[in-house]
Amino acid sequence: MKGSSSSESQKPMPATGKLGILTPGLGAVATTFIAGVESIRRGYSKPIGSLTQMATIRLGKRTENRSPLIKEFVPLTQLDDIVFGAWDPIPDDAYTAAKKAGVLEDKHLEPIADFLKAIKPMPAVFENHYVTRIHGKNVKTGKNKRDLAEQLRQDIRNFKKDNECERLVCVWCASTEIFIVPGPQHATIAAFEKAMEENDEMIAPSMLYAWACIMEGVPYCNGAPNLAVDTPALQQLAIDKGVPISGKDFKTGQTWMKTIIAPGLKARMLGLEGWYSTNILGNRDGEVLDDPASFKTKEESKLSVLHNILQPEIYPDLYEGFAHVVRINYYPPRGDNKEGWDNIDIKGWMGYPMQIKVNFLCRDSILAAPIVLDLALFSDFAHRAGMKGIQEWLSFYYKSPMAAAGLQPEHDLFIQQTKLKNTLRHLMGEEQITHLGLEYYQSK
Ligand SMILES: NC(=O)c1ccc[n+]([C@@H]2O[C@H](COP(=O)([O-])OP(=O)(O)OC[C@H]3O[C@@H](n4cnc5c(N)ncnc54)[C@H](O)[C@@H]3O)[C@@H](O)[C@H]2O)c1
Repeated sequence: MKGSSSSESQKPMPATGKLGILTPGLGAVATTFIAGVESIRRGYSKPIGSLTQMATIRLGKRTENRSPLIKEFVPLTQLDDIVFGAWDPIPDDAYTAAKKAGVLEDKHLEPIADFLKAIKPMPAVFENHYVTRIHGKNVKTGKNKRDLAEQLRQDIRNFKKDNECERLVCVWCASTEIFIVPGPQHATIAAFEKAMEENDEMIAPSMLYAWACIMEGVPYCNGAPNLAVDTPALQQLAIDKGVPISGKDFKTGQTWMKTIIAPGLKARMLGLEGWYSTNILGNRDGEVLDDPASFKTKEESKLSVLHNILQPEIYPDLYEGFAHVVRINYYPPRGDNKEGWDNIDIKGWMGYPMQIKVNFLCRDSILAAPIVLDLALFSDFAHRAGMKGIQEWLSFYYKSPMAAAGLQPEHDLFIQQTKLKNTLRHLMGEEQITHLGLEYYQSK
């Protein structure tokens, strides 16, 4: 592939004017994100879970005592300058969709009801072949997939103009599509565009949104495990057009826990015999994932994590052949409040077995919403810094991080965090932090 992803950075342009955040999908995650930002803007809530709003970053030597907030160090768009837009096949406005999603309570929704009611989804590019469990009439028609993608481009231009936005970013918050393996249709930009014109089945709606965004110079973040931008064709297009892209699949709940615990086991050279994970989930996402074709896409995304962190090929005595099972069961009474159980069979000194049990009662969309905000703000920042192609430094937020061809993705949350912060330091002309601390001992 021609070009590079991160090496051609420049001094970031300032975050002037308005930033439009577009989400394909106006369901549980998107409405929780939008309602949260509005609630924070009005001073009703705090941005808990968001690095862009709450985290600090250490600069220079420890003795310098410089640890500003990330948002004071990096020129990020202010929350007050954000405008929201969405597409969804279900025509509900953001208020109605949030009520149906059942994540947020009336005490949080009612004070911002007018704001949410004004956000109405644009007609979606949607086909039941790719998501079987959703039925909605707010759907575009066109002579072929290329035509539909061109309509998305027009939506993007109209949104930008009507809302007087200086810049846009897109975060996929729509359903998980059926599993698609990359084929020749995704190999080059020419093959991809031809396949769009021929209505090829291998071109899913998520890819049309991604193509449209990149063509319009809009960074694209993929919150679902769908292939979407993770193809050579669209990665090349992103480099050619100078657009940052990232994915796949927001790292919330159980997988986030895995990327915390597994590096801990490996750091202490403790072995793993097996890891059994099961969830009950009752929201619409759970219903979509109840379809085996959509679950397959999710399963692939969840399974890759442990193997990549534990590296059984380097540590066969500890990790060769460990069992890894992931189940998601749709259980309506639970709504968005997922319950996950993990049974982890580990082994220690002389091979003695031990077990760790994790019972995580989490709220899926509450964990995902700050990720949407951070991805949008960081991707916009990356764009202003001249970054293009895959943004590996945003792997921190993804279950199944995209990596350049031939490279292994990094799954360890703590390495990902270091990479994220060092990228910010690098882009702002500060020294990388190695945590070596030699200056202290050498000065003695
Ligand atoms: N909540 C989490 O913790 C989490 C974590 C990782 C990934 N995700 C992913 O984020 C996505 C959103 O999750 P959710 O809980 O909000 O689901 P949801 O079902 O509440 O919302 C998804 C919305 O997308 C819409 N949609 C489907 N296809 C579309 C298309 N082609 N164009 C536009 N809209 C479309 C649906 O009508 C629905 O309103 C899912 O793919 C989910 O797997 C969520």
